[in-house]
Amino acid sequence: MSDKYLRFVNTPLGKSAAQSLGLPAPVQLKRWKRGSPPFVEGSVLVGAAAGGKAVSYLGQTLGASPAKVFHASNIASLNDSAKVGNKAAPLALDTEIEERFSALVFDATGMKDTTDLRALYDFFHPTIKKLATHGRVLVIGQDPSSCRTPAKAAAHQALEGFVRSVAKEVGKKGATANLIFQATGGEKALDSSVRFFLSARSAYVSGQVAKVGKTTEVAPSDPTKPLAGKVALVTGASRGIGASIAETLTRDGATVIGLDIPAAMEELQKVTSAIGGKALACDITDEKAPAQIADFIRQHFDGVDLVIHNAGITRDKTLGNMPEHFWDMTIAVNLTAEEHIDEELMKQDLLKENGRIVCISSISGIAGNFGQTNYSAAKSGVIGYVEAMAKQLKKGITINVIAPGFIETQMTAAMPLTIREAGRRMNSLSQGGLPVDVAEAIAWYCHPGSNGVNGNVVRVCGQSLIGK
Ligand code: NAI
Repeated sequence: MSDKYLRFVNTPLGKSAAQSLGLPAPVQLKRWKRGSPPFVEGSVLVGAAAGGKAVSYLGQTLGASPAKVFHASNIASLNDSAKVGNKAAPLALDTEIEERFSALVFDATGMKDTTDLRALYDFFHPTIKKLATHGRVLVIGQDPSSCRTPAKAAAHQALEGFVRSVAKEVGKKGATANLIFQATGGEKALDSSVRFFLSARSAYVSGQVAKVGKTTEVAPSDPTKPLAGKVALVTGASRGIGASIAETLTRDGATVIGLDIPAAMEELQKVTSAIGGKALACDITDEKAPAQIADFIRQHFDGVDLVIHNAGITRDKTLGNMPEHFWDMTIAVNLTAEEHIDEELMKQDLLKENGRIVCISSISGIAGNFGQTNYSAAKSGVIGYVEAMAKQLKKGITINVIAPGFIETQMTAAMPLTIREAGRRMNSLSQGGLPVDVAEAIAWYCHPGSNGVNGNVVRVCGQSLIGK
């Protein structure tokens, strides 16, 4: 469903009407499309707290972009421009800054205690107003749970409040702010995550914290087809978010098995034939479904690399009025079926080395929602499942969750008008997301270079006001 208000406020008349009535004026987000630069262009300013270890790796990543890179020359640790890539030029923050920045990137990993938080203010205070429309703020800190002293843990945890607040301040420009917590010594694993958070692919991801752990070396992949040679299973692929995931993973080189209920076969075949994938008719709640899926994979391929548990349903009613089949179906589709499918694929050794499992939760699973005790329980359970599985998986396999906020699909088009409008506006970007926003985040989890990204819950919600 299209957002008519968003289109209206982006006309000259709509802009001035919104301004004079004090209404939200969301900016049309800039999403990645064919021909867009791989991740960031324009001018990027890099800063660091003294002793930052991530900055030289940031330099390598940014050096591979078409962006003009500057480093904050009054930050002592950055005086050696080689640390931020060969192309970096110094920029004094205590003089008039003329540049408009497409991204402000800050390496906070060097912070030892809370007095070092001052480096954040010194870097962002003179520059934040220079962030361009659709700009990106990215801060890299150290995972507080791996900090040796409480003072250091406090300083790094403080980054979360800082970044979430910056995200709220820059959202009106269609800009985002996100935080990466790296594991000690995990700098080498940052590349795919830095690229994602600085690119147009993360247009609807804001106020999020991603944890990146240490990794083993990965062979470089073709940047335009990083998933070449991979086989992906996408459930609920006939429409909405699932169809977009199937298209996006295909764009990145994967071969997709799209799965949906038999009644959706016509729609599913349209999706899979357009992307050269395969269609599988299957109700994932059927007790034979895990074996049926395993047989299908074995029949066509030698295994599967990416398993995307997207199929989901809502059956809303307040608890006292909820019939038991509403409860049972919602738990079965959104939660139990995923466990059974993974179990079978692993039992039959069909999930390949360096595989990826991605589950879809919801902000309802994080914050709860009126009339959704069944759905929220299932989507919260998904998070518990992923966090526990992340600790157990071997052979380089990762598992992560995306928790979408309000995404424009048939599911949300069916909402009553007032709830739909509230869902669209109650976030820092004042608009709903598109299925492709969820699909892009999944493609980042699936990237071969994201093997240090494990057990994460990242929300694709434009920083919804609901929940964390
Ligand atoms: P949708 O209703 O448009 O698509 C869901 C797909 O799952 C459909 O194609 C449906 O046929 C399939 N499906 C349902 N039950 C199935 C079963 N038993 N076996 C196989 N396939 C089955 O939903 P949408 O909006 O694309 O949502 C996709 C996922 O994202 C779901 O897990 C949903 O809960 C989640 N989500 C969506 C949000 C939104 O704003 N649209 C917000 C938060 C989460």
